[in-house]
Amino acid sequence: MFKIEKHPILEVPKTEIIEFLFEGKKIEGEKGFTIAAALHQAGHPVHSHSLDNRNRSLECGIGKCGACEMLVDGIISRICITKVDNIKEVREIPVDYSPAALPVNKDISYNVFNTEVAIIGAGPAGLAAREVLNQHEVPNIVIDNNDKIGGQFLMQTHQFFFFEKEKKFGGMRGFDIAGTLAGDDHTGIFLNSTVWDILEGNRIAVKNILTNEIYFVDAKYLIVATGAVPFMPAFENDDVPGVYTAAVVQKMMNNEFTLLGQRVLTVGAGNIGYLTSYQLMQAGAKVVAILEAMPREGGFPVQANRVRRLGIPVLTSTILLKAIPNKDNTGITGAVVADCVDFQAVPGTERIIDNIDAINICTGLVQDDQLLAKGKEIFGRNVFGAGDAIRIGEGTSAVLRGKQAAFEILDEMGAKFSYDDFLSVSKEYIDSQQHPVRVREDVYRPDETRSVTKPFVLIDCLYGFACNPCEFACPHDAIHKTSTSTVPHIDFDKCIGCMECVYQCPGLAIFGYNLKKDWLFLPIEYEISEGTKVFLVDNTGKNWEMGLLKNTEKEKQDRYSPGKIP
Ligand code: SF4
Ligand code: SF4
Ligand code: FES
Repeated sequence: MFKIEKHPILEVPKTEIIEFLFEGKKIEGEKGFTIAAALHQAGHPVHSHSLDNRNRSLECGIGKCGACEMLVDGIISRICITKVDNIKEVREIPVDYSPAALPVNKDISYNVFNTEVAIIGAGPAGLAAREVLNQHEVPNIVIDNNDKIGGQFLMQTHQFFFFEKEKKFGGMRGFDIAGTLAGDDHTGIFLNSTVWDILEGNRIAVKNILTNEIYFVDAKYLIVATGAVPFMPAFENDDVPGVYTAAVVQKMMNNEFTLLGQRVLTVGAGNIGYLTSYQLMQAGAKVVAILEAMPREGGFPVQANRVRRLGIPVLTSTILLKAIPNKDNTGITGAVVADCVDFQAVPGTERIIDNIDAINICTGLVQDDQLLAKGKEIFGRNVFGAGDAIRIGEGTSAVLRGKQAAFEILDEMGAKFSYDDFLSVSKEYIDSQQHPVRVREDVYRPDETRSVTKPFVLIDCLYGFACNPCEFACPHDAIHKTSTSTVPHIDFDKCIGCMECVYQCPGLAIFGYNLKKDWLFLPIEYEISEGTKVFLVDNTGKNWEMGLLKNTEKEKQDRYSPGKIP
């Protein structure tokens, strides 16, 4: 566990040092960052103990599960979302602890906000719903327990796939999208606010977790966009510190600049497994392998290619059986894995992957739909689910379902809206959930004459899925993708070889060639010095030959332009 001091994508801020006591020991944290980050950076990953005294660490990392609750200045707080600012003392909650009963003040009056639509969750789905409602002048209030809008986009450093008619989010990094989702006017978005119940009379009970103020929101309609929680498979020692879900790994790494391990085993070859592994390597860790119990890789092939090109082996039909704890059970040293068929280990194939200090569990997400269930009891047909709370999916589908839910409310209200817009959003929502389908066996290539007259690109994107930023990236109208079921087509007569598209593809699937000069143009997302000798590899990670990194240019939007490799 250590502090990330430099990062190729994120700017690491320098902030004020805050001192506090942890079990009587002086700990330093950084203003604006969480207690969990400070404790991990100081080498204290254990925050509590189970009833049979097993060490416990973070579970969700995003304030949803309560596994990290501690006594912070005498108040039970979730340290994964509580900042070190102004705190004095952090202690484990004693086994026999019971909070003092607070005197009931019957004279106290509570704020009650009235609105037409209450939206729980200020992530992509909730904010997309808000945008449509605002466009139709429908009063709404958004409630979220985080201190910023954007939900899980906030901890995503990679560029996002979006299939759009007009360029909006496609190719933007998650944290950049988060900042733009609500526009400039954030009126009616209540942050640091957790919904603790939905009461009779369409009343949403809320607590501000910073001020402890209780307030209520009364609404006619409810949208629940509460996202998802990580799914944790069962294996021996799955509870020891050192075994973390991807949500914890990403939140700590990309928001808290805290790396939970230097040699990491990832479990789950889906998009989350690929992206967290890629991000771990960017942040300075080494991912030793990605395990997948299924006989084939999941997720989008372009994402799988990016990790294989980094030399990370993807081991299919392989199951994690056990985490091997270190001597004092504060971390891990290895894992027992085995071949598997139908998720059952094949006897005799057990083996140890040692010399690792963290396991990154990326085995999927589960809908966080408890408030949706309660909302259905109270709001009846006037409750609508959106985003991961109803179906786990990509950012595109969360945004589109958020909009669709808003249109459905407009319909229920009898408000005026364009039915064509509703149909178009609905169609895009369905298309966005399409699994990648292989469309081409090989890339489009220029003929021999064209390939030597001008530079060109090859687009190694052979599966149809909901993505098209490459279309907007080309200023010469050379790239077209007609639907989510097709792949980008390139017109080599129009392509002038400007290489703009190379660094704007979120799948890192476009590669540029200047055969006359013997140059390659590659999307590079690492701190790497010009003049470095590099391996040139294929999509399986196999070395082909050596190259020399001639130059790197950081582009306007904080992206790297291609390196020229002679
Ligand atoms: S290299 Fe330039 S001109 Fe050619 S497809 Fe890419 S963006 Fe368009
Ligand atoms: S080539 Fe186009 S469609 Fe394929 S991943 Fe890149 S931007 Fe998306
Ligand atoms: S609430 Fe902090 S780890 Fe889940």
